[in-house]
Amino acid sequence: MQFDSGPRVRLSEIGVDWYNLYKQRTRLNQNWTAGRFVNSQLPHPNHPAEGHTDDIYAIQLQGKHLVSGSVDRTIRIWDVDTGRLVGEPLQGHAGSVLCLQFDPRDHEDTIVSGGAGGELIFWPAARVAGQRQDVWTIVNEAATASPVQPIVNMGQGFFGYNPPEFVLDAARDALSKVECNQYSPTKGRPRLKKAIANAYSPFFGRTLDPDKEVTITTGANEGMLSAFMAFLEQGDEVIVFEPFFDQYISNIEMPGGKVVYVPLHPPKDGATKTTSAGEWTLDMKALEAAITDKTRMIVLNSPHNPIGKVFTKQEMQAIGDLCVKHNIIILSDEVYDRLYYVPFTRMATLSPEIANLTLTVGSGGKNFYATGWRVGWLIGPEHMIKYVSAAHTRICYSSVSPLQEATAVAFEQADAHNFWDESKAEMKGKVDRFTQVFDELGLPYSEPEGGYFVLVNLAKVKLPEDYDFPSHVANRPRDFKLSWFCIVELGVAAIPPTEFFTDANAHIVEDWLRFAVCKNDDVLEQAKERLRGLKKYIQ
Ligand SMILES: Cc1ncc(COP(=O)(O)O)c(C=O)c1O
Repeated sequence: MQFDSGPRVRLSEIGVDWYNLYKQRTRLNQNWTAGRFVNSQLPHPNHPAEGHTDDIYAIQLQGKHLVSGSVDRTIRIWDVDTGRLVGEPLQGHAGSVLCLQFDPRDHEDTIVSGGAGGELIFWPAARVAGQRQDVWTIVNEAATASPVQPIVNMGQGFFGYNPPEFVLDAARDALSKVECNQYSPTKGRPRLKKAIANAYSPFFGRTLDPDKEVTITTGANEGMLSAFMAFLEQGDEVIVFEPFFDQYISNIEMPGGKVVYVPLHPPKDGATKTTSAGEWTLDMKALEAAITDKTRMIVLNSPHNPIGKVFTKQEMQAIGDLCVKHNIIILSDEVYDRLYYVPFTRMATLSPEIANLTLTVGSGGKNFYATGWRVGWLIGPEHMIKYVSAAHTRICYSSVSPLQEATAVAFEQADAHNFWDESKAEMKGKVDRFTQVFDELGLPYSEPEGGYFVLVNLAKVKLPEDYDFPSHVANRPRDFKLSWFCIVELGVAAIPPTEFFTDANAHIVEDWLRFAVCKNDDVLEQAKERLRGLKKYIQ
């Protein structure tokens, strides 16, 4: 577990001296075989490198975790079943860790610790602390370490260019209106709900009710959090396909849900020849086997990030029918719904029974190249939308007013500007332009059927054996090393996709990297030029 250090308080400021705290340190549960932790700095005979490098002063057991603090100034969390470290040591104390205590309210994994420097650190709850160094931090660190500056950032999926002028004009205009600078109704501005209902009714084959079947959220992400908050109770299970958009996981876990993973499988010959993203497959038997009495929801993403797969109508139908059979709510994340290069099916359009349990997620940020606007929405039956709105009201009350108004105008005017067709053609052009370099290098890739991510297989790239990767990269799967290497040696950032898998299934994509092509053409050309530097490492 890699925690960032929480706020520090001088003990003297709150009238406690460290010696008293030290004396009060909690005693070890006698049932735990503590010897190997307490009397030795090496917690596990087979994994000595994981041990403390000095005496242990404080220790506490909670659930299946044992926490120890040491003169070496670190706190380590152990799995009591395996005796192994649960992630990275917590660093942040200026002196020996003298005492530690779980949150008095008994919240698992929330720790307070006192150190010889006289400091008390409130470590954050595990839900916000992250399990290990996140991919974005590693990519940024590599970018700083690279001699090639500035880096061409093909990693994160933000647009390298502005929304079209008619959308920007709408935003400027909205800012000058008094009512657009004040709270919007919690469910969203009527003009935006109407514009969305009008835009989507033809796709859904019926007239959507803007007041009952549409609710506006702060980006698709907060919309999904609201949906999970609305329907999950502690211990309810949610099925998520791997690879997954990483926000799903915390959004499910925050309300107490449990994620159940089902992997998508790459094309068998994906390492040797370029294939279609459509050839990534879902094992329907594995999906059905993952369903239990506790399965409450499933998350589906089409067009898919990061694979670029657009699920076929047959695949969607099979998934939808299964959900109807087991009464499972479908959260259909369709944020890339305007960027598809093969026929695209919307889950909610497949049958009235499927529509009855489907929440469709949309994003103004993705649709109009404005990810920073944080305007999203959910469309679904009234009996579900009303609870999503209720959760959203409690999470953030309402969403950004002027940008809701601007998104409404963007929808109203999009067809007149032929925006949707042009947007799709432009993005497909970027995919084709960028992937040329991999054709040239003979590196196979998964050709996206939608969205703006390209997965490239770099199994043929031989990394120098003696290459000096930092330890937190060296002990991650090969795609992290590929990513680090491309950033530092070539100056091009791409994302290691094992980040979107569980450890058990990470091997499926350890030779791949994800590139986002939603960048200006000159940036794409510069990235291509730099990537040609891979030639000498290809075997
Ligand atoms: C699959 C998927 N869903 C949802 C989102 C979040 O969308 P928004 O920016 O509207 O919150 C993203 C953003 O990258 C995404 O890739």
